[in-house]
Amino acid sequence: MKSATTHVLRGATTTPMPTPQALLEAPLARGADAEPLQRQLHQRLRHAILDGRLLPASRLPGSRSLAEALQISRNTVTAAYEQLAAEGFLQPDRQGTRVAAMHCPPAARGAQARPAIARRLAGMQAGTSRDDAAAALRPGVPALSHFPFAAWRQALDRASRAAGPAMLGYGDPLGEPGLRASIARHLAIARGVRCSAAQVVITEGAQEALALCVRLLADPGDTAWVEDPGYRGAKAALQAGDLRVVPQRVDDQGLVVTAHDWQARPPRLVYTTPSHQYPTGAVQTAARRLALIEAARRHRAWIIEDDYDSEFRHAGEPIGAMQGLVPQAPVLYVGTFSKTMFPALRLGFVVLPEALLPSVQAPLGEMLRGGHRPAQLALADFIESGQFSRHLGRMRRLYRERQQALRVALADGLRVPHAIEGGHSGLHLLVRLPPRHPDAAIVQAARRHGIGAQALSGFALQPLAQDNGLVLGYGNTASDLFAPLVRRLSQLARAADTGA
Ligand SMILES: Cc1ncc(COP(=O)(O)O)c(C=O)c1O
Repeated sequence: MKSATTHVLRGATTTPMPTPQALLEAPLARGADAEPLQRQLHQRLRHAILDGRLLPASRLPGSRSLAEALQISRNTVTAAYEQLAAEGFLQPDRQGTRVAAMHCPPAARGAQARPAIARRLAGMQAGTSRDDAAAALRPGVPALSHFPFAAWRQALDRASRAAGPAMLGYGDPLGEPGLRASIARHLAIARGVRCSAAQVVITEGAQEALALCVRLLADPGDTAWVEDPGYRGAKAALQAGDLRVVPQRVDDQGLVVTAHDWQARPPRLVYTTPSHQYPTGAVQTAARRLALIEAARRHRAWIIEDDYDSEFRHAGEPIGAMQGLVPQAPVLYVGTFSKTMFPALRLGFVVLPEALLPSVQAPLGEMLRGGHRPAQLALADFIESGQFSRHLGRMRRLYRERQQALRVALADGLRVPHAIEGGHSGLHLLVRLPPRHPDAAIVQAARRHGIGAQALSGFALQPLAQDNGLVLGYGNTASDLFAPLVRRLSQLARAADTGA
């Protein structure tokens, strides 16, 4: 046996031999708070093998010489070696102890190799983080401090008591039947959706509903149209399904689609937010909706209608969902409780066309596992007891007041040319700005002041000069803060003036 430092490291013939301390990267910790020496030694050697610093077939120092070098007892070394041998990392032989023959995947070798991910995800860029819900004017966040916590807790309690331990098992993969029925009834009344409970599939928010639509109806390489500017989450879901994502412009009447588009690049899926385009706030006209349904039928395409916030209608007549406009529309209606309840609930749904049910029932049963059962049962209780409607009514009034207050603050305090768009429903307004005030620069500077406004250009796939503006959420920001926040945004917009 050679000295304790030989035979153990990759490239041993060309690089200087590290000492056992170098092999272990740092001296073993001592003292009352330290982990037992045997455990430390075992872990260090295990890491060295997994990191590729100790290669298969390398011979380890004898227990006596390593114990001397590390100034620990020989029993400690022997015990660590024995454990590693029992785990298959080391192999004792007649000459001593070797690293066992094994293939160490590159991912186990620390930061040396950057794992390759699927090509379809490579172009995905990080959006703004969703964990800064508290940032002022952040779009898409409901009034969290106005949520009726006590009533919700009672609903959870009632649901647990009624269902008992049975609730802890797997549920119906498509969701709790009671909740699906409550949603179907609610949608018929509130949104004019034509559906039975059997068509409703409960999902983990709208995001999973979108992913489900893709998995059920599209094959890799199929074309999907998305609104431009539009919801990034939809683009991500389509892209993750390996679809060819084609942007379609929106104007003040929502998604623009021409006969030429249908000829030139017919889609399998069309993602749209007709009742309140995200983020411009445009409402799609009935004529365009009917034309879209008609063309989708002709081309055997499916429309995904994302109706994410239209329960909060503030102006004009209620606009029914596109799904209910004509019988058997080729529409998958996606909804979420992220705005009407709270985002952390992670409950949403998709209403499938009746004609699809026979073919999707088996795959859905295989793919889904249900989930969030206590929350699903409590939500059904919350809807059936009338508390959901009361909560919606209160929030509608609150958001209407907040939007009005934001409009006043903008009229008084935003000292750059601008045009306010949207606001017929939901929780945000779009403030379009001239290109000389670049939205990305304003938003970046605003973040340092705790302002979570978003840049319109960030929602565009192929941005035009006119895609410049601020998306301002008023859902989770108190009205008395609007004046100072708008004054700050005004300063930042003026500072960002390029003069161009
Ligand atoms: C257009 C749109 N759809 C859906 C959602 C909700 O998604 P989820 O239910 O996954 O929270 C949002 C939230 O911001 C949205 O803006």
